[in-house]
Amino acid sequence: MPYVPMHPDPLTEPTEFNSSRLETQARADTQPTAASAVAEPPARDSIFGVRDLDVFYGQHRAVRDVTFDLPEHEITALIGPSGCGKSTFLRCLNRMNDLIPSARVDGEVLFHGENLYARDIDPVAVRKRIGMVFQKPNPFPKSIFDNVAFGPRVSGMKGDMAEIVEQALRRAALWDEVKDRLKTNAFGMSGGQQQRLCIARALATQPDVLLMDEPCSALDPISTGRIEDLMLELKQDYSIVIVTHNMQQAARVSQMTAFFTVELDEQAGHRTGAVVEYAPTEKLFTSPDDSRTEDYVTGKFG
Ligand SMILES: Nc1ncnc2c1ncn2[C@@H]1O[C@H](COP(=O)(O)OP(=O)(O)OP(=O)(O)O)[C@@H](O)[C@H]1O
Ligand SMILES: [Mg+2]
Repeated sequence: MPYVPMHPDPLTEPTEFNSSRLETQARADTQPTAASAVAEPPARDSIFGVRDLDVFYGQHRAVRDVTFDLPEHEITALIGPSGCGKSTFLRCLNRMNDLIPSARVDGEVLFHGENLYARDIDPVAVRKRIGMVFQKPNPFPKSIFDNVAFGPRVSGMKGDMAEIVEQALRRAALWDEVKDRLKTNAFGMSGGQQQRLCIARALATQPDVLLMDEPCSALDPISTGRIEDLMLELKQDYSIVIVTHNMQQAARVSQMTAFFTVELDEQAGHRTGAVVEYAPTEKLFTSPDDSRTEDYVTGKFG
């Protein structure tokens, strides 16, 4: 099946992501390679193909040799001990590391088969197609409405703004709670509501992908459950990549899981993160191939 954008975006197409180029490239470019960490390729089409990815902060190689495909319309979980490079890797998927002056990315990240790090790709357009939600809800000091309208306004999206905002809030399962107070400041919302507002804000620019870096770690169990339900609902229309320290959460929501670890690079004398194992979530949690994965998921390490 050729790639058909879920949310055709007149602002970024056809220049940054030419769908006809993608149609012809996607198949060839996203075939799994023979990396040892790739246990089984995802059954679905890939949204990302990561190839030989290294990330440096100055001289420090924080992540090395990452090669795997992430499936479309599924939830991929990234797990592993603190400092193994989960956030660093996640930020590569929408060029957020570009904003860190010392960061350098080597290798390829194919998005629908097209290298996000190619010279002619505009990182701002990338971040519109690939939205991000952070650990701590970070609404702007503005009204609920203006928070959601922010991205569409900045990027000059056409259409009825009230309609765009309502749709995003509905998708984030927040509309009924806030429809009568859209003009009030977002800081007056609960933490769980603020996080769903940040999800709505990310959805408002009509992305294909949501990247979530520990989106529930600041939330209570009820709010966490709501976000997890929401993720499962959203995966029908979006591809999601989530970093989590919560194993149960990874097991509950994701279909594929990548386990990262951090090891001393003897030559360089510093610690570097790498993928140990990437597999369907159930397999990774119940019968992993690597003893390091087993130690981690059973709580013996980490
Ligand atoms: N902005 C930065 N500048 C320099 N080094 C960084 C930067 N961000 C991360 N690092 C380093 O890169 C390595 C990986 O960090 P990263 O934050 O990606 O790990 P993580 O797996 O997300 O950890 P955690 O689970 O604690 O969030 C660490 O050694 C960290 O110190
Ligand atoms: Mg992190």
